[in-house]
Amino acid sequence: MCYRLIRPLLFCLSPETAHHWTLTALKYWPFSHRIPDAPKTLWGLAFKNPIGVAAGLDKNGEYIDALAKLGFGFIEIGTTTPQPQPGNPKPRLFRLPQSRAIINRMGFNNQGIDALISNIKKAKYKGILGINIGKNASTPIENALDDYLICLKKAYPYASYITINISSPNTAGLRDLQHGEFLNHLLSGLKAEQGRLAEQYARYLPLLVKISPDLTETEIQDLAATLLRHQIDGVIATNTTISREGVNSQENGGLSGAPLTTRSTQILHLLHQALQGKIPLIGVGGIMNAADAQAKFAAGADLIQLYTGLIYGADLRTINE
Ligand SMILES: Cc1cc2nc3c(=O)[nH]c(=O)nc-3n(C[C@H](O)[C@H](O)[C@H](O)COP(=O)(O)O)c2cc1C
Repeated sequence: MCYRLIRPLLFCLSPETAHHWTLTALKYWPFSHRIPDAPKTLWGLAFKNPIGVAAGLDKNGEYIDALAKLGFGFIEIGTTTPQPQPGNPKPRLFRLPQSRAIINRMGFNNQGIDALISNIKKAKYKGILGINIGKNASTPIENALDDYLICLKKAYPYASYITINISSPNTAGLRDLQHGEFLNHLLSGLKAEQGRLAEQYARYLPLLVKISPDLTETEIQDLAATLLRHQIDGVIATNTTISREGVNSQENGGLSGAPLTTRSTQILHLLHQALQGKIPLIGVGGIMNAADAQAKFAAGADLIQLYTGLIYGADLRTINE
């Protein structure tokens, strides 16, 4: 309610400034909002409701307790990389209010995995926490596994699950990791390390893969076969799109929000069919209201996440109806 009143003011600021001030204000906000309880157990984790915060909103884990006040069933932080990096030059975040959309080309601006972990240690939140990991822009794609392994090992003791982000459009070559031998090599290495870490910590942590909405039907079939072969624990569908269908902007980057809803739900549906329900799915992409959320569940999602819908004031009290 309050956010709706001040949103026109925030939209006068640059998107990155508004993002910073909204999350900072939330830190000091005295009231807790509540998403209605709808308990669900997945991967042995007890979710109080199936609605989560998508990656990218809190890249460094600085706002975990603030986001928890909104009553989410789970919070995903990151994408984090082994080394801090500045991301792309500004401006790199664009609002398209008429389309209820955002284009971003942030480029994994983040303070690095060590800073993210020190922020987690400071947080009071005890709920389900996903850590989304990626590679530094300077790491050649052939060496991507090394970066993901560094992040996996460091994040393992602090996460409820880990997301392997191979679908951001803003890191050159990253999406190539979704295909063929690149994917095979990456998942072999990460699954082997997951096995070692599970023994070391006597705790098995689910490994999820986050995919792009720009895959063809054949690519989804191939990807699904590889994910099954490697016994990946979950898939997040989808990241942002490079399509400009339904919007009047040619800014480079990934498009999210209302223009992504249908495409992202279609990908989720195709993936659900290809996986024959054998791997749990998190649906994300253009959830702006309860009907969009229901469409994701109908397409096969076990859980859902939001980002752009939060910026455009999606009503969290009714999202789960
Ligand atoms: C500004 C911005 C930054 C994002 N950064 C990340 C990121 O670092 N890692 C990631 O996996 N997804 C990132 N995303 C993608 C979102 O997590 C989500 O998959 C996508 O925006 C589609 O959902 P939405 O339409 O609800 O926003 C970002 C999205 C936006 C808008």
